[in-house]
Amino acid sequence: MALRRAPLTSSLHRSSPLLLDFLAPSALRQTSRQYNSTASKQTAVAGHNPDHASHSGSSKPKYVLSPQQREFMNSALRVNQAGELAATLIYTAQTPQVVRSHPHLRPLMKHMYDQEAGHLSTFNNLIAKHRVRPTAMYPVWEMAASFLGWSTGAMGREAAMACTEAVETEIGSHYNEQVREILSWQDEAEKRGEELDDELKDMLATFRRIRDEELEHLDHAVENDAKEAQPYDPLVNVIRLGCRAAIKISEKV
Ligand SMILES: [Fe+2]
Ligand SMILES: [Fe+2]
Repeated sequence: MALRRAPLTSSLHRSSPLLLDFLAPSALRQTSRQYNSTASKQTAVAGHNPDHASHSGSSKPKYVLSPQQREFMNSALRVNQAGELAATLIYTAQTPQVVRSHPHLRPLMKHMYDQEAGHLSTFNNLIAKHRVRPTAMYPVWEMAASFLGWSTGAMGREAAMACTEAVETEIGSHYNEQVREILSWQDEAEKRGEELDDELKDMLATFRRIRDEELEHLDHAVENDAKEAQPYDPLVNVIRLGCRAAIKISEKV
C-alpha cells in the first residue's frame, strides 16, 4: 500500500512491477499485462505484488483498463469527491437552521451528515491513493454548496428536504451510471476469460453502497415533506440543473 502512495518518480517508473495500480498509465501497466496474461505466471505476480496477489484467490488474468476507461475512473473519482464535499457542506449549513425549529430532525440530519462525511473520506482516500487530480473548481463548489445549504435551510424544513431530494436524485443516478459502466467492463472481462482488478471490484462495491445510501437520503427527504416546499418545482429544478452542471464541469476541470 505504501508504495502506491509514494510520489511518482522516475525510479518508480523503472520498477513498474512493484507499481500495479490499475489506474496507472498504460506504460506502467505493460508489465502487469505480461504477468497476468499467463495463468501459470501468477506465482510470479504474487511474489512481486502482495497487494494484488491472491486477494481474489483466482487464477484468471486481470482485465486491463483502456486509456478511456482509466479516464472514466479518474473523472468519476474527481466528481464523486467534489460531490461528497458539497454534500457535507450543504448539511453543515442546513442543520442548525432546520434543527432550531424542528428539534426532532436532529438525529436524521446527523445521520445523513455522518454518512456524507464517510463518503467524503472514502473519496479523499481514493483520489490520494490513485493520484487523481481533485477538481480545480473545489473552492467554487465549496461556496456554492454552503450557500445552497444555508439558503434552503433558511427557507425552512420542507425546502431543506427538497434540496436533499433534488441533489440525491442527480447524485443517485450519477452513481448508478458509474456502477453500470463498471458492470459492463466486468461482462467484457468475463467474455474474455479475465476478471476485474480486485481494487476495481472493491470500488464497484463502494459505489453501490454509497448509491444506496444516497437513495436512502432521498427517501428520508420525501418522507419529511420535501414535496411541500414552496415553490417546489422551480426550487428542485434549479438545484438539479446546478448539480448536473457541477458534475459535467468537475469531470473535466
Ligand atoms: Fe454522499
Ligand atoms: Fe447524500
